[in-house]
Amino acid sequence: MRVDRFLSNLPRFNRKQVRLLLVEKRVRVDGTIVSDPHAEVLEFSRVEVDDEVLQVGKPARYFMLHKPPGCVSATRDPQHPTVLDLIHEADKNDLHIAGRLDFNTTGLMLITNDGTWSRRLTQPQTKLPKVYYVETEQEITADYAITFAKGLYFAFEDLTTQPAELVVLGAKSARLSIVEGRYHQVKRMFGHFDNKVLRLHRERMGPLLLDDALKPGEYRPLSDEEIRLI
Ligand code: URA
Repeated sequence: MRVDRFLSNLPRFNRKQVRLLLVEKRVRVDGTIVSDPHAEVLEFSRVEVDDEVLQVGKPARYFMLHKPPGCVSATRDPQHPTVLDLIHEADKNDLHIAGRLDFNTTGLMLITNDGTWSRRLTQPQTKLPKVYYVETEQEITADYAITFAKGLYFAFEDLTTQPAELVVLGAKSARLSIVEGRYHQVKRMFGHFDNKVLRLHRERMGPLLLDDALKPGEYRPLSDEEIRLI
């Protein structure tokens, strides 16, 4: 929310007073004086006017999990274990998954309570590559890379996928980089060639790589540097 709106939503300031507070440089967001009425205030921001704290700001949390097969990318499921069951932290209920994976897909999963951060990571517009290691039932031929680079038409959504890069690693294995996360996207792309995906593992999301020290089912908090990369 814009800082001017945040302040004028409080019963104690009207719009004119808010303008004045900003011009007089009496407002600080996360310790920095702001005078721009458009400056952003998040639920994580500390907001002060003079020396009074108006919002403490809740801690933003970011985790990297190595998703094992056989668990659901959801916060709750009536039948199966979920990735959130693997996270042992207080206040788990405000966490969400940035970019879901299918039940048997393994690999990098990012979990946070910061919606702005997770949107930057997953929105197709930001074009951050999501890199998957893929094993298939049938051989992967040279025409796959050409078709994936052109984009594939998905009738259900009535869209053409953004160009994707395929590097063939072996007769039935490849590394695929896509910038979107459409429903079952990788399986549907290989499905175009009637080739079933037998193993799917996400290695990377944008600049964030799955830490090899994490065994399936393990997680760790992201470092400040990793958080800033997104
Ligand atoms: N594409 C798929 O088909 N499944 C996943 O889990 C991720 C991408």
